[in-house]
Amino acid sequence: MHDAKVFRSMHKSRFQAEPALFVAPGRVNLIGEHTDYAEGFVMPAAINFATLAGISPRGDGKIVIYSENYGEERTFEAEPLPEKGSGHWSDYPMGVVHVLAGEGHRIPGFSLSIWSDVPLASGLSSSAAIEVATAIAVEKLICAAYPGPVLARLCQRAENEYVGANCGIMDQFISIGAKENHALLLDCRDLSFKLAPIPDHVALVIANTMVKHSVAGGDYPTRRRESEAACAVIAGHRPGVKFLRDATLEDLEKWGREMAPKSLMRARHVISENLRTVAAAEALLRGDMKELGRLMAEAHTSYSKDFEGSCVEADIMVELAADLPGLIGARLTGGGFGGCTINLVEQKDAHGFAEALCARYTLRTGIAPQIHVCHAAAGAHRLE
Ligand code: GLA
Repeated sequence: MHDAKVFRSMHKSRFQAEPALFVAPGRVNLIGEHTDYAEGFVMPAAINFATLAGISPRGDGKIVIYSENYGEERTFEAEPLPEKGSGHWSDYPMGVVHVLAGEGHRIPGFSLSIWSDVPLASGLSSSAAIEVATAIAVEKLICAAYPGPVLARLCQRAENEYVGANCGIMDQFISIGAKENHALLLDCRDLSFKLAPIPDHVALVIANTMVKHSVAGGDYPTRRRESEAACAVIAGHRPGVKFLRDATLEDLEKWGREMAPKSLMRARHVISENLRTVAAAEALLRGDMKELGRLMAEAHTSYSKDFEGSCVEADIMVELAADLPGLIGARLTGGGFGGCTINLVEQKDAHGFAEALCARYTLRTGIAPQIHVCHAAAGAHRLE
């Protein structure tokens, strides 16, 4: 974990100004994958890996952003702001600044330092953590105060329009709205949510396959298009169906044959995943860990077989966890095609589980994974 004191003095010596400090967490999704942009359900939790942002005003009308991770500084004019991203890490913070300016705020010059320990390209929402940390820092600077769900939408827009990654709302929403020791069932249609406590005896064990994941790359948008094509077929018969959230498995039985085979498979995943996610939240709320674990296993199979969103290594990581002592449920988490699995594990077994899984995975794949025993963290906030 990073040290806020070290970060503060880093910003001070670089920019000769006292920063206001903010933190925004990454997330793990317990269940509900590729359902957010179909206006369905997701159940993420924030994790104790986060981005720190330090901000201080400047008098020269410039925006200077320093990333401690990249050891690199970028300078922009506050007026006019660059209209488009440039495929650089600074697109994430600058996208947020651009969207806030588009909302009518005059953006003054400022210095921003960023430091993240959310593993990059691992499906743990390092992007959302940077966007949200930037958003709450700049919000403070311009004396704005958006309600959490509105700020989450603005950060999502930054990623959609400026970075050019067609993500849904889940990651930004949980980074802002998370509550410590809780998972959050989010209805991505109206952004209403329900918090579900994660019992003390349960640990979140995150196992990184070390296979890189990306939302901007080819597979995520392809899957999204395929599932939206299935939705269009159903909408041809039932005009009330705007998103797969509105569709049922019966619709697939009736009209599935009019769909391209891959589209039918993607839709079957999304529709069944919505049902599983709501059921999983109910199971967690009544403390039925066995049922939660069963639903997670089913979700992984659906993600891997119907959505084809997994990869060999993630399937192996899930398979190797199955008979280890303490496992409640395991599945690939996040946007897919690599990244991490989430394992709900009995707290007392968590460290033994992590060691055993690490040994097994290394032996089987020749890749040394990173395995973290985490807990559900609080959402983004200011650090004093
Ligand atoms: C990425 C996106 C999210 C969501 C997941 C898949 O994390 O940023 O919006 O679509 O993939 O569930």
